[in-house]
Amino acid sequence: MLSSGIVTVAYIAATILFILALGGLSNQETARRGNWYGITGMAIALLATVFGVVTQHYGILVAALVIGGGIGMLLARRVQMTQMPELVAILHSLVGLAAVAVGFANFMDHSTVLTGVEKTIHDIETYLGILIGAVTFSGSVIAFGKLSGRIGGKPLLLPARHWLNLGLLIAAIWFGRAFVIESAAGGGMTPLIVMTVIALLFGIHMVMAIGGADMPVVVSMLNSYSGWAASATGFMLSNDLLIVTGALVGSSGAILSYIMCRAMNRKFLNVIAGGFGTGGGTSASSGDAEQGEVVPIDAQETAALLAGAKEVMIIPGYGMAVAQAQHTVFEITKALRAKRVNVRFGIHPVAGRMPGHMNVLLAEAKVPYDIVFEMDEINDDFPDVDVSVVIGANDIVNPSAQEVPDSPIAGMPVLECWKGDTTIVLKRSMATGYAGVQNPLFFKENTRMLFGDAKDTLDAVLKAL
Ligand code: TAP
Repeated sequence: MLSSGIVTVAYIAATILFILALGGLSNQETARRGNWYGITGMAIALLATVFGVVTQHYGILVAALVIGGGIGMLLARRVQMTQMPELVAILHSLVGLAAVAVGFANFMDHSTVLTGVEKTIHDIETYLGILIGAVTFSGSVIAFGKLSGRIGGKPLLLPARHWLNLGLLIAAIWFGRAFVIESAAGGGMTPLIVMTVIALLFGIHMVMAIGGADMPVVVSMLNSYSGWAASATGFMLSNDLLIVTGALVGSSGAILSYIMCRAMNRKFLNVIAGGFGTGGGTSASSGDAEQGEVVPIDAQETAALLAGAKEVMIIPGYGMAVAQAQHTVFEITKALRAKRVNVRFGIHPVAGRMPGHMNVLLAEAKVPYDIVFEMDEINDDFPDVDVSVVIGANDIVNPSAQEVPDSPIAGMPVLECWKGDTTIVLKRSMATGYAGVQNPLFFKENTRMLFGDAKDTLDAVLKAL
């Protein structure tokens, strides 16, 4: 059993390591180190809590650690890179569920008797912890369903949905008041259960109402909620480390949501209220109908075009992750650079299915960081680009975001590759992207379609080069 002094020192050390981890993760060159800071911090936190804070029931604790840790390890080993966002969503749901379970356990545990203001504050902490936890739980389960394709990406738009949300919010506040009053008199379970059901329904409704292309904002928002749920649990249990760690996750998730909203040119409140990415226009005007002929190209011709270019821009998207084509992409980059072609990568902030998805894949393939550019850094350069190669990307290069006001992705900034000389699009079919809208880029005069699995096609291009 560690003394409380040692536990405090360990908690401070863990907190510092978590802050260093967040700092490290903000840059791809320091991300690996950041990860290690996080792992070390969590190991210290876990050891200090197990040996310093827990005083009994060690058998149950060890069993839970072995079962939970085992399942976590198995899932992490099995998960494909493209399934990462789903895994993150389901992990958020577990944080929410834990907050609900701890909240109820804490409420039913009468070993510490609080009175007066202290009791009221503790009741409010419990109520908020369960409320945020339940919203996080059900919202994350729906997000998991949507990201894994088990639930359709189309938003569910109930009539008067904003009134419904407002009604649920007012009901949650009303039952909160009832809970605090009844709890002071020794009761309170009924309003607590009713609120939990309301919060679960709210979480489901909130995420069901969000359209395909806005899912990144929802995932980072649920990340933030899971942090606040953990923080509220920390208050309930009077555990400083949980409060701080939860607040770090909560605030960094909120900042990430803000960054995502800016990247998608969305207002945060509009996304939360739902209904974005709904495809409000007619199908033709929102770009759903195919718009003319596409011009196919083969691997040989692609290789010739690339070899003859001076400026090449590679735009990777979700399809590159699916095909695991990043290594071939780098081989092609090296071959072209050897021919004195200037090759750069243009990365859209929501390319793929999670923040930084493309950067991670390119880093894994050892593409040098100095040729990888964010969208804002290179979007003005397209008029000077000879060939843009769009590898399994769709929504992030869709001109209807700028040209069709009632498109579901209207207003979202996109990589303006069509302004270059030639764009070559690698994909398997004419299928739409995540947002479910047709892409006029494919029908433009200076676009060539290279159909097939991106890895197979790029292997053929590399061979031809
Ligand atoms: P998408 O718009 O989803 O388009 C990907 C394209 O890749 C598809 O049109 C698909 O066409 C093609 N593809 C799939 N597998 C392929 C393969 N093996 N070989 C070649 N092509 C393949 O992707 P994007 O352009 O990267 O845009 C991302 C979208 O996801 C945005 O709408 C964004 O809002 C959303 N989203 C992003 C995130 C984050 S945080 N990044 C999270 C959730 C959702 P075929 O089927 O015809 O091959």
